[in-house]
Amino acid sequence: MKLVPKSPNGSSRKAETLLSLGDPSFRKPVSRSRTIRIDFRDGAITPESLMDKFVIRGGNPLVGSVRISGAKNAALPAMAAAILTDEPVILENIPDVRDIQTERNLLVSMGADVELGYGRASHRTTISCNNLVNPEAAYELVKTMRASTLVLGPLLARMGRARVSQPGGCAIGARPIDLHIKGLERLGASIKQEHGYIEASADRLRGGHIIFDKITVTGTEDLMMAATLAEGETIMENCAREPEVVDLAALLIKMGARIEGAGTHTIRIHGVEKLHGARHRIIPDRIEAGTFVIAAVLTGGDLQLTNCDPDHLGSLIQKLEECGVSIKAGTDSMRITNGHQLEAADISTEEFPGFPTDMQAQYMTLATQSQGTSIITENIFENRFMHAGELARMGANIKVEGSRAIVRGKTPLSSAAVQCSDLRASASLVLAALVADGETIIDRVYHVDRGYERIEEKLKGVGAQIRRIGEILPRRAAAPSVVA
Ligand code: EPZ
Repeated sequence: MKLVPKSPNGSSRKAETLLSLGDPSFRKPVSRSRTIRIDFRDGAITPESLMDKFVIRGGNPLVGSVRISGAKNAALPAMAAAILTDEPVILENIPDVRDIQTERNLLVSMGADVELGYGRASHRTTISCNNLVNPEAAYELVKTMRASTLVLGPLLARMGRARVSQPGGCAIGARPIDLHIKGLERLGASIKQEHGYIEASADRLRGGHIIFDKITVTGTEDLMMAATLAEGETIMENCAREPEVVDLAALLIKMGARIEGAGTHTIRIHGVEKLHGARHRIIPDRIEAGTFVIAAVLTGGDLQLTNCDPDHLGSLIQKLEECGVSIKAGTDSMRITNGHQLEAADISTEEFPGFPTDMQAQYMTLATQSQGTSIITENIFENRFMHAGELARMGANIKVEGSRAIVRGKTPLSSAAVQCSDLRASASLVLAALVADGETIIDRVYHVDRGYERIEEKLKGVGAQIRRIGEILPRRAAAPSVVA
């Protein structure tokens, strides 16, 4: 793809300099033609931006304040819940990340009207599903985001039929959705699986008793949504207790659903005839907040996080205190200062309120800088140590044995070219680069964009040396200089 952006005076050299200095005026050239690929703001998936990289020079303590965005994993089911009514659902504090774009495209492909807020309202979206004509989640969308399967229960409950692509494998594990299907069958749905699609139908779902074989977050959310319009009562046991499940229940109750017990292992739903529209503010992203907590600790900075909820991060805060870190938690803010040597501590990932698997990779980077040996046990996903090999390329001492990783620290990290494999693994590499000696190049940062809103701007705002570069220019221009 020979797409070399020509800056207004036609010299790519000037464009390159503007790019690397991240000059904002470069973002708004007169036209949005394909050559103006350097505008990373609209979130649209452009083939070129799939090649973006981060260049990070390590060593700067992070000092200042970062505002945490809304939670991706609460926003996605909330957007799917809009399918349950023909009235508008207004969601606020929606993060501007790639997965939300995908969910919007999915809803629009079904016939929904999705309005984006702009300017001050840029984190608000209004969804109207009064004209759903195509109850289908196509493979093209589902393959880019598994959470697309969250439309299965709502479509079945509202439309009586749904055709949803099987999500297929994922970098971190097999991640089947058999528990979603079993649950819907217990609510009276008839389900066929053929040609890579789940074909589901039901005149009207009827209440039932579901005991999940395993705790599943989106399984709990999918079935809870389906049961809101079922005939009679549904009792779900061994449910997930994640804050995102509780936030979804809060929205559904505002829409007129009758739900008790969200946040516990047993949820009761009394089905109703119809749900109505509502306005709801999405909870803060506890995983984004946790990632910035570790960034502050690692860089020896002094960081204030605002618009977050420390109660959702109890297990992480407790673990970091065990490592010798002091964190001052307020109701919707946290202050992290760290000036002393980190002590090693073991973790094992569990369902909420245990240590979140989505913080495991970031914690591994921290463990490389702790004094002693940390044993990290991953209990939720069977293949979630892809970042270990990349961290080892930067000098970390990590040995993976099945679902355990043994991290020996403290080992100084040095810059290297590394690549992202999944969302949280990429966050662990960004954290490592912030403390590595030299300039690290992180490839495939589109993984980061899926779940972190403008992470490079937030980091730059508190003193990090980070910039985003596109594919074409750097290979031609930067290869010799950056690596050096
Ligand atoms: C949610 O995924 C999150 N995604 C994940 O965050 C998170 O890692 C995970 O919960 C665990 O906390 C969203 O909320 C969109 P599960 P989910 O069903 O619901 C097995 C991120 O980084 N299982 O709770 O897909 C499954 O394979 C992402 O933001 C079945 O066997 O996870 C896993 O081993 C990554 N059959 C375990 O249960 C099923 O039908 C827990 O998975 C469903 C799940």
